[in-house]
Amino acid sequence: MTNADFEKLVDTSDEWIISRTGIKERRIADADMFGSDMASNACRNAMEMAGCSPEDIDVLIVGTVTPDYRLPSEACVVQEKLGLVNAVAFDIAAACTGFINGLTIARPMIETDPTKKCLVVGCEKLSSITNYKDRGTCVLFGDAAGAAVLAADTNGGGIISTFMKSDGRLGELLWQEIGGTKNPYTPENVYNGRDKLIMSGSEVFKVAVREMSIASEKVLKDAGLTGDDISLVIPHQANIRIIDALAKRLKVDKSRVFINIEKYGNTSSASVPLALDEANRQGKIKPGDYVLLVAFGGGLIWGAALVKW
Ligand code: COA
Repeated sequence: MTNADFEKLVDTSDEWIISRTGIKERRIADADMFGSDMASNACRNAMEMAGCSPEDIDVLIVGTVTPDYRLPSEACVVQEKLGLVNAVAFDIAAACTGFINGLTIARPMIETDPTKKCLVVGCEKLSSITNYKDRGTCVLFGDAAGAAVLAADTNGGGIISTFMKSDGRLGELLWQEIGGTKNPYTPENVYNGRDKLIMSGSEVFKVAVREMSIASEKVLKDAGLTGDDISLVIPHQANIRIIDALAKRLKVDKSRVFINIEKYGNTSSASVPLALDEANRQGKIKPGDYVLLVAFGGGLIWGAALVKW
């Protein structure tokens, strides 16, 4: 969906969207494609790249806030689609931080048992919870999935340090009020669009810049490194102005920050793995490079992971 498509839906303009967000296009899944389909495709590609088969996977962790069902978990649906017969599969509902939380949880599993292989996925069908009458949110979001296979590295690479934090007091700055057990769907709520994402954009913006910077500095400090040591920052792609502000605070030149927001918009938990995969396939990451992953999302929740490639 292009910015021109949104000009026909709400009172907005290509110029406003690009200058305020950096987004030009987003991908919208067909009606019969769900998060588990996108996740399964991403997982197949990741397993192919890692040279492993479905039987090799011990753990599947799926970050999503837009699962196909409430029960079973998205992870169990994906497990069935992929035939991960030897795995345990579970979800993390950490919005845009889901992939980084997944890496953080998988890391000690592999450190404890270096034979383990973990598949970590972020997948979202955000179009299913986007209010296409609200110009303040609808232009931002897209659908996607991204995945990575994690295994012990004998060449000194790995996840060096991680950080996770949340502040539930700020939950209503970005939420879906209707649809849970407390406020179930009713015709009136659905009619009023209260079953979709609701966001206080400018307030979320300020917290995002502050906390993504703090999380990044924390994982760098824990590893005894500074922004100068980072070959590539892969930030959550929510808004180009948030990414610019983060790069400035970390004193990292924009040439060392991976950006693909213009093509996909904000894809929540899929954003970081999608960007990581694109950067990797484009040859932007070399063995021995330090790569900083950092994300922020509804909860509010945020986190960072420092990876030696
Ligand atoms: N087109 C045109 N005008 C728009 C618009 C759109 N799509 N969306 C909002 N506006 C208007 C507002 O109505 C407001 O108009 P007003 O001054 O007449 O009231 C004006 O633009 C400024 O709105 P504001 O919300 O202050 O804009 P902003 O500069 O903060 O940008 C966001 C809005 C949503 C792009 C920005 O706040 C943002 O990206 N926030 C963080 C989002 C985020 O990261 N969310 C997820 C975390 S994972």
